[in-house]
Amino acid sequence: MFRPAILRQVVRAVDQSTRPAALVAGPHQFIRPLSTTVSRAQRDDKNDPLTKATTKAPGGAAGEHEGKYARTDENVVIEYPDDADMPRSPVVQGRGGMHFKRTLAQFSLENRVTLVTGGARGLGLVMGQGIVASGSDLAIVDLNHEAEESARKLVEQFQKENPGLEQLPNVTAHYADVSNPDSVNNALSEVIAKHGKIDHLVTSAGFTENFDAISYPYDRMQKLWGVNVDGTYLFATGVAKHLMERKAPGSIVMIGSMSGAIVNVPQPQAPYNAAKAAVRHLASSFAVEWAGHGIRVNCISPGYMLTALTRKILDENPELRDKWISLIPTGKMGVPEDLMGAVTFLLSDASKYITGADLRVDGGYTLT
Ligand SMILES: NC(=O)c1ccc[n+]([C@@H]2O[C@H](COP(=O)([O-])OP(=O)(O)OC[C@H]3O[C@@H](n4cnc5c(N)ncnc54)[C@H](O)[C@@H]3O)[C@@H](O)[C@H]2O)c1
Repeated sequence: MFRPAILRQVVRAVDQSTRPAALVAGPHQFIRPLSTTVSRAQRDDKNDPLTKATTKAPGGAAGEHEGKYARTDENVVIEYPDDADMPRSPVVQGRGGMHFKRTLAQFSLENRVTLVTGGARGLGLVMGQGIVASGSDLAIVDLNHEAEESARKLVEQFQKENPGLEQLPNVTAHYADVSNPDSVNNALSEVIAKHGKIDHLVTSAGFTENFDAISYPYDRMQKLWGVNVDGTYLFATGVAKHLMERKAPGSIVMIGSMSGAIVNVPQPQAPYNAAKAAVRHLASSFAVEWAGHGIRVNCISPGYMLTALTRKILDENPELRDKWISLIPTGKMGVPEDLMGAVTFLLSDASKYITGADLRVDGGYTLT
């Protein structure tokens, strides 16, 4: 919005200063010599502000603003906090419960069991709440033992919002490091033992960090890919194998990010962007491979969402907050509740003919 406005002013100014006398004399004397356009296009004036903004001019000729809003800034360094410094994620209130409005039965997840990785906190926890509100039982799988408390609070909140219900949802908590195959297999066995089956999977375990590419610590890069990519792969293949053994249909939703389709600015995060692009394409690849087994696989790519963690980062970096918001067409960050409907839709029969899709929930960020 901002750049084109400046550009239009520059074009207007250039237009006035370069227009031949015959053109500015008045509306009744409008004559357009055929040569005007050609001579303007061929102009090679070193002081022409538009020439300075082209590849004909050396870098920096147009001023400090060149590329300013489209570049990463190596000074932005954000490390994923240690567990002790991690802010808690509250169970959301007043948005997840049952309702008495008519809606399509296809959206119901009744009699299903859903496993959510990274469900102890953040987006995973709130999506889990939406999934339970839609009728499913839930297995929260997380590295963090906060998962047990989250499971308990989720049921308490559900009970508060649905007083008088005879049967409460079965919500369980399980430990796994999603990047470790043995840990993943143990968690899958535990969930099947507790719930009898798994119908749906949501892979929300993941994290991001910000270092410029050249300084990115290699061990942290490996860890990032391990959790975001291997973790998604291991859980998806584990659940697909279980569904195939049961000869049961199912659906899987992988949480990618808009970063899998664009490059965020100003914070540098090349490994995260590449990892989320991998998640998106894993969803497409699995969708094709498992279509014949009745297993659908889709991706949700959220934009900037205000979780306890992003709140902490942005409280400490208000300039980053303003920059982010300025780049979102709707002018707003999302909240975790904005994913409740998207995940329920993609897991449920309402999206029966949708597989391999990437649903961007980003306020239009990736459109501009
Ligand atoms: N918050 C956003 O703005 C945003 C935007 C786009 C995409 N995402 C993606 O959404 C997902 C959830 O992000 P969030 O903001 O809720 O983060 P979060 O840190 O609040 O929650 C992530 C959860 O994953 C768990 N986890 C991390 N590593 C794990 C591992 N090795 N094994 C098991 N669990 C592990 C954490 O303990 C935590 O409970 C991530 O994949 C993230 O990349 C987030």
